[in-house]
Amino acid sequence: MTKQLHIGAAYHGVGGPGQYTLWADPELEPDSGLRVEKYVEWAHIAEDAKLDFFFIADSTYITPDSPPHYLARLEPLTLLSAVAMVTTHIGLVGTVSSSYNSPFNVARRFASLDLISHGRAGWNVVTTQDEGTAGNYGRRQHYDYTERYGRAHEIVGVVQDLWDSYEDDAFPYDRETGQFVDVSKLHEVDHHGQYFDVEGALNITRSRQGQPVIFQAGNSEEGRDLGAETAEAIFTFAPSLEAAKAFYSDIKTRAVAAGRRADDILILPGINPIIGDTVEEARERERAIDAAKPFDRQVAAFSRSFGWHDFTRYDYDAPFPDLGDLGELSGRTRSRTIKDYAASSGLTLRQTVIHFTASPPSPFVGTAETVADTLEKWLVEGGLDGIILLQNLPSDFHRFADEVIPLLQDRGLFRREYESSTLRGNLGLDVPENRHAQAAQARVHALG
Ligand SMILES: Cc1cc2nc3c(=O)[nH]c(=O)nc-3n(C[C@H](O)[C@H](O)[C@H](O)COP(=O)(O)O)c2cc1C
Repeated sequence: MTKQLHIGAAYHGVGGPGQYTLWADPELEPDSGLRVEKYVEWAHIAEDAKLDFFFIADSTYITPDSPPHYLARLEPLTLLSAVAMVTTHIGLVGTVSSSYNSPFNVARRFASLDLISHGRAGWNVVTTQDEGTAGNYGRRQHYDYTERYGRAHEIVGVVQDLWDSYEDDAFPYDRETGQFVDVSKLHEVDHHGQYFDVEGALNITRSRQGQPVIFQAGNSEEGRDLGAETAEAIFTFAPSLEAAKAFYSDIKTRAVAAGRRADDILILPGINPIIGDTVEEARERERAIDAAKPFDRQVAAFSRSFGWHDFTRYDYDAPFPDLGDLGELSGRTRSRTIKDYAASSGLTLRQTVIHFTASPPSPFVGTAETVADTLEKWLVEGGLDGIILLQNLPSDFHRFADEVIPLLQDRGLFRREYESSTLRGNLGLDVPENRHAQAAQARVHALG
């Protein structure tokens, strides 16, 4: 069978990072980030198109410079529970920070969503780049990269352990014998690690997909290792096929080195297709969208990797300022790239902001046919296993669903009907066996 694409759709309310003016677009309601009905509409477009999952990104720290959607948005798991009630097949993936949550709470909330949705939950594990988040949670300083990713590794393991607290047949519910639970199938976690101590069991059973799917998005060395060792699907950005292939093979190589199979992880770059009747029309729209971004808002977007540092205090036309360690605790991968590039190219602050905030022409802008061609090429040449759609306007999303999806279906690259009612089933991922049941079976085999 031809390799299949897996496609998710992110919903960003009135715009993702760097989008400051979208909220006023007549196609959107300015309060879209706070209205569950808008999230549901998006999920329905995605489910009608048979997409694998609906994704909600998240962050909690805001400043007056945050983009409008960040200033007013719903908490992911609460809203995904509502979406679960009015959908039947689409996966429901939400971001929850590994830095500012305890393993027990994460395990409990995702296990609940997994049961509410009958096996459609996924956890996007992020370590939180906004250093100001520390203050929201009573800390003076954000964790450094080593601790952030150390905590992330540990929390994923503990959460998965908690999800296996009950073996799948732990509840006989036997009215005759009066047995509600078989306590021999209940297993307490006894974890004492570097960052977390957890003693006890989770009071929720596994869903029909066994455990929620682990998603991850990180680009640093530490982030890539976390993804390769723990994730089942990875979000990334891929500006070109070469960059996509390099990331793809890097992650799969790391996964194999960590004792996993290359196919255990799906690589899903985030893309924002713009479809036109002609390639030129689509390119013109792409240029117009970029040109309409006000420079002062671009400066604000740029400052995020530096902890929302105030760049307006500098002369924009002087050489890029010496920022010392600024950015090391925030978006370190990007802030280092920016500092190095500005220094080696001798750029001014203005040139640097423009260079790093302008969107280069995307390979996914064109007609429905050329976008389908590019997706097919990237899939076949080992640049991706699927994509996460980062579109903003319903008309763009409809156009992708109505024009690109049928082409992919005709080429045998995308499903016409859901294969399964679980997220794992549709992503083609194995259902993990309960670790205690597996160990018990191994003991029986060992006894001969
Ligand atoms: C498609 C996609 C979705 C992401 N969603 C989130 C998110 O919801 N919350 C978040 O804090 N970071 C999100 N990120 C950013 C990453 O978690 C991470 O901070 C970034 O890639 C930098 O990685 P690094 O810290 O390992 O360098 C996302 C990245 C991508 C590509």
